[in-house]
Amino acid sequence: MKDIRSELKVLLDAEKVQNRIAELAVEISNDFKDKAVKIICVLRGGIFFTVDLTKKLDLIFDMDFVEISSYGNDQESSGNIVVKKDLTDTENLNEKHLIILEDIIDTGKSLKFLTEYLKKFNPLSVSSCVLLDKKSRRTENIVADYVGFVIPDKFIIGYGLDYCNYFRNVDYIGYLEN
Ligand code: IMP
Ligand code: MG
Repeated sequence: MKDIRSELKVLLDAEKVQNRIAELAVEISNDFKDKAVKIICVLRGGIFFTVDLTKKLDLIFDMDFVEISSYGNDQESSGNIVVKKDLTDTENLNEKHLIILEDIIDTGKSLKFLTEYLKKFNPLSVSSCVLLDKKSRRTENIVADYVGFVIPDKFIIGYGLDYCNYFRNVDYIGYLEN
């Protein structure tokens, strides 16, 4: 893999990302105070966001992980979403408020699919929190309950988001100029 890090432009620096995550954590902590919460981290892109956000939540919760995919190595959603790694544990979901943590919402197909998938387990509620929202690209009728940043239509790399599955560890939100 070619090292593209020097070609990346900064859209949101690491400090901005962390400050916004702290604000989201306060909001979510207030909204779910005293509720039975389960965090659902969407792999793989959501892992960095999940780690940083959950450390700041003032709540008691358990966590599970799911991997869904439509992308392959392309930069466009195929719309054909599949569960690649299922939840580890689907018991007691009907006693929980589920909060999906996802890196980005683009067309909305992934989040819509996952929300519908989770609702089949009859949870008390399903909410979603995305770090990034490419709002102008939405084709599905879905909104995330918590949004870190609304961003322009650029291909994003960093902070969990990948380029051919590389560079997820870049600690800011970057993009490649077309
Ligand atoms: P959607 O189904 O079109 O909303 O796409 C959401 C998924 O596509 C995200 O979970 C990401 O994995 C991926 N994705 C969308 N936009 C980008 C991007 O700019 N960079 C990297 N991955 C992206
Ligand atoms: Mg993803």
